[in-house]
Parts: sequence; structure tokens; C-alpha cells
Amino acid sequence: MEFLFVVEVDLEALSKSNKFSREEMDKIAFQDFESLGKLEYSIDEKRVDEILGEKAFCGGDLPEDVFQDLETQLEGETSGSYFWNDKEAADKFANFCEKEEVKFEMKSLENQDWNEKWRENFKEIIISENLKVTPSWDKKEDNTKEVFIYPGMGFGTGNHETTYLCLKLFEKIVEELNESDRCLDFGCGSGILGIAALKKLKSSVDFVDIDVDALDNCLLNLQLNEFEDYNPYHELVLRDRYQVKEEAFPIVFANILENVLLLEREIITRSTKKKGYLIISGLLKGQETEILKAYEKEFKLVEMEVKGDWVALLTQRIDS
Ligand SMILES: C[S@@+](CC[C@H](N)C(=O)[O-])C[C@H]1O[C@@H](n2cnc3c(N)ncnc32)[C@H](O)[C@@H]1O
Repeated sequence: MEFLFVVEVDLEALSKSNKFSREEMDKIAFQDFESLGKLEYSIDEKRVDEILGEKAFCGGDLPEDVFQDLETQLEGETSGSYFWNDKEAADKFANFCEKEEVKFEMKSLENQDWNEKWRENFKEIIISENLKVTPSWDKKEDNTKEVFIYPGMGFGTGNHETTYLCLKLFEKIVEELNESDRCLDFGCGSGILGIAALKKLKSSVDFVDIDVDALDNCLLNLQLNEFEDYNPYHELVLRDRYQVKEEAFPIVFANILENVLLLEREIITRSTKKKGYLIISGLLKGQETEILKAYEKEFKLVEMEVKGDWVALLTQRIDS
């Protein structure tokens, strides 16, 4: 078994001691002691949500300012963990730290397959006995009970509470829908919700997003789910080019932030057929009140689901 020998410099103590800056420490470890690299800190999704709240709920790519925000808030939680693959080299750097009175800790780590480790974050997600989300590498054969997704590209791996809740609510009405019912996935990200609809209904889906990369990812996921033959019937549309069709949709998904749901209220409403269902999410607990108020003239609440801090609403367009 391969090991990494790690010397973890206590960066907080280092900055208090005023002896070396972080940059100087990097230079010493890399140039003078030939460290192979520095372990980056990693944090789980829950901690990111805790720090960024609503801002964590973006498309596939985090904007630069959100990254910066995260980095600022994580100051002090980072560690200067330099590593080597032989113990003697790590010991030399540790001796230097000791001599210079730099606080540190020594560790050895199993050299993991980081690709494998990343994959461990994406396990299948069971929505019900009739629907689950499976990462692409676990696909065996195509079937109507599994939505296959290339994880990590567009928002919508099924891991996020809001995606899960939308799928759960969709499952509640699927029996009521006709196979010919068309669907609109507004803010489609990876396309996960619309693809779930395609697996259950035999009709077509319009996928809309403001982000061209999300639409690219959505197309890949459509192909992964073997829907390329239907492609002429699906539309993948950039939001700027989206226009409400004469015939509105019996089922619409809109898993987007509260402010976007308010901004896009008119187009979402006009896109939903009378008596049709609109599944809304992207709402933190408490935000549903404002949304229900904004949509109350045209929609009635059928059911609400909550998971963690997030809420999803199943609403139905009033027939008047
Ligand atoms: C939270 S993700 C949801 C993705 C996927 N539908 C799911 O449920 O997992 C929201 C998506 O909405 C897109 N979006 C944001 N504002 C939008 C707008 N005004 N119109 C359409 N899409 C928008 C984002 O680019 C992002 O892909």
C-alpha cells in the first residue's frame, strides 16, 4: 500500500508568530525541501450550504465572487499540509519546522485513488421503488425506472434536496398524467427532471436554461438515457430565446431561486396549461409564503414537501 507522508503546518499559529508568511512557507517546502504538493482542504456540501446559504444554489459553475466569499469565510479552516512520498524527506522538513519553532503535526495517509473517492460522493439516489437516479458509470441497461446522469457537470445530480423533492412530487402525480403530456423543464440544469418525465411519459420535453453549458450537459444526459431518437421533438432552448407556445404544458418544473421564480412568474404561468401541474422548488423554508402569494391568482397549492432547509411545492393551475 502506498502512503503519503504529510507535515501539517498550523497556519493560524504561523501567522500569529510573524515568522514566515504562508507564501514563504510554501517556497521553503517546495523549493528547499522538494515537497510534492499541498493537500487542498475539502469541505462537504452541507458546510458549503451553511456558509453560503442561498448563494450555494447556483448553476453548475460557481461564480468567482461566490468562490471568493467561500474562501474568505474559510480563512483559518485551511491547513498547510505539505506531502512527500518518502518519510525521510518529510522528516527533514519537520526537523526544519522544529528548529524554527513552527507548530506542525506529522501524519501519514493512504494514497487514495481520488477519482474513486470523487465517485463515492455520487451514489444512486432512490426516489421511490419506481424511480432512482444513477450515476453514468453504474449504468447497466436503459430502463424506465432509472435516470442516468453524468455527475458533477450541470446542477442536478439528485443529491440536492430540491431536485429530490421535485422528483418526489412528480412521482405523486405521474399516474394522473397522460402519456402524451408534454413537459417544460424551466431551469433544467442537467435535465434531470425533464428526463425523469421522459422516462415515465412518452411525449416530449422542452428544456430551458440561461446557461449554455447546462444545455450541453442536458444533451449529453439525454443521449446517456438513450433519447437521441426523440431529439427532433425535444427542444433545448436558451432562456433569451424561449417563447411561450400556443399550447401550454400540462407539467412544468421550475427549480430555481425565489427571486427568479418571482421575476419569471409571468412566463412560467403562461407556459402552464389550465389544470396543469407546476412543481416549484429552490425555496428555503419560509420562502414558500411569498411565492404562494405571488402565484395565488393562477395556482392552488396541492402539496408541499420539505427536506432539510429546503421546500418544494406541487401546485395546480386554476381553470379560470
Ligand atoms: C438549481 S438549478 C436546477 C437544475 C435542475 N432542474 C434540478 O432540479 O436539479 C437551477 C437552474 O436554473 C437555471 N436558471 C437560473 N435562472 C434562470 C432563468 N431566469 N431562466 C431559466 N433558467 C434559469 C440555472 O442556470 C440552473 O441551471
